Order: sequence, then structure tokens, then C-alpha cells
Amino acid sequence: MVRIDVENIVNSLALAPVSVAPEYQKKGIGSQLIYAALKNAKELSYRSVIVLGHKDYYPKFGFKLASLWNIKAPFEVPDEVFMALELTDNSLENVHGIIQYSKAFSE
Ligand SMILES: CC(C)(COP(=O)(O)OP(=O)(O)OC[C@H]1O[C@@H](n2cnc3c(N)ncnc32)[C@H](O)[C@@H]1OP(=O)(O)O)[C@@H](O)C(=O)NCCC(=O)NCCS
Repeated sequence: MVRIDVENIVNSLALAPVSVAPEYQKKGIGSQLIYAALKNAKELSYRSVIVLGHKDYYPKFGFKLASLWNIKAPFEVPDEVFMALELTDNSLENVHGIIQYSKAFSE
């Protein structure tokens, strides 16, 4: 889980890491994993997901530049690889700030 640090803390999720063994890549497995994760997140009532990843891969799942909402990573990262997805309509409206990753991401 991650938090987006605004005046009011907003809980969100981070999608990472995603990995498919080289010999099984380009068979749709990565996409299925991501669609399943997003479906689970929605069922658990999460409203948005953040990802740091390939700029050409994640947009096909609906991710857009996090900078569109003025959502920033807590470290230096190129704008085009830091993305966010609204799981419910306009869930990131008026949400902006710096992501706070949970401890699991640094362990
Ligand atoms: C990224 C990764 C998870 C994709 O898994 P996958 O099972 O090969 O993905 P899928 O088969 O579902 O999707 C393949 C599609 O994504 C595209 N794609 C795969 N890797 C891509 C990349 N790095 N950048 C852009 N497009 C990519 C393929 O060209 C293909 O496009 P198409 O559907 O138009 O033919 C896999 O390549 C991987 O494990 N890479 C190494 C680890 C990594 O970089 N993870 C991402 C960390 S953010």
C-alpha cells in the first residue's frame, strides 16, 4: 500500500514489481496478472493505483502520467515512467502530493 501525501492522507496502491520469466513473455501473462491485480484492488475498494514502470507498457491498462494530477514520487524519476490509474471515476480528482511508500518497498 502507498499513501499520497496531501492535506488529507489518501490511501492508494502501488503495482510493482511485475515480472514474467523471459521464455514466457509476450504470451499475455503479464497482462493477465495486471488485469487480475487491478480487479482485486477494485473489489477491495481501493480507488487508485500508482506504478513506476515502462512508459509504453502501462498506458494500455489505463495508466496515465501521475504528473497530470501533480502526484509525485518521493525520489527523482523521469516524468514518463511514473503513472497512476483511477479505479473509480475521478478518484484522483483533487488528489495531489508526494507518494509515501509503505515499508515493504524498502525491505
Ligand atoms: C513487462 C513484462 C512483465 C510483460 O510481461 P508479458 O507477459 O511479456 O506481457 P504480455 O504478453 O501480457 O504483453 C506483451 C505486450 O506488451 C508489450 N511489452 C512487453 N514489454 C514491454 C516493454 N518493456 N515496453 C513496452 N511494451 C512492452 C509487448 O510488445 C506486447 O505488446 P502487444 O500486446 O501489442 O503485442 C515482462 O516483459 C517482464 O517481465 N519484463 C522484465 C521485468 C520488467 O521490466 N517488469 C516491469 C517492471 S515495471
